[in-house]
Amino acid sequence: MAIERTFSIVKPDAVSKNKIGAIYSRFEEAGLKVIAAKMLHLTQEQAEGFYAEHSERPFFGALVEFMTSGPIMVQVLEGENAVLAHRDILGATNPAEAADGTIRADFANSIDENAAHGSDSIESAAREVAYFFSPEELCPRTR
Ligand code: TYD
Ligand code: MG
Repeated sequence: MAIERTFSIVKPDAVSKNKIGAIYSRFEEAGLKVIAAKMLHLTQEQAEGFYAEHSERPFFGALVEFMTSGPIMVQVLEGENAVLAHRDILGATNPAEAADGTIRADFANSIDENAAHGSDSIESAAREVAYFFSPEELCPRTR
């Protein structure tokens, strides 16, 4: 299996509930290594750009409002099969449908305030990492 990188957000609802560390523990328990991280409070422009693929969806305005409602943590995760491994521990978009023990089942409020984001493909991951991090900010593990 290939070592991949993926992009993750701890969303404003989970930061507000003081669950940053609890969610980072899930990454570590799954063998995903944090190789870059920072806290941000997104501007409307940043949130709209990040979720541009959803700009025609009915929930877009509410999504942007939620994502700019408070600070978030953004991070790059590295590990075997990282994109799918991370989506697995994240759980379904709607926490009511998310498998037991997943991040969204345990920490999300609802489909629109669903605790965390994870890239859905290698291509999305590359775009999303570059959206928030410069190459010099990534710290690949050498040990
Ligand atoms: P999507 O990319 O479909 O989900 P995921 O985050 O699992 O990749 O949607 C992006 C975000 O948009 C989702 O995390 C929460 C929000 N959203 C809603 O608020 N309502 C909805 O009906 C959907 C599908 C998404
Ligand atoms: Mg998505």
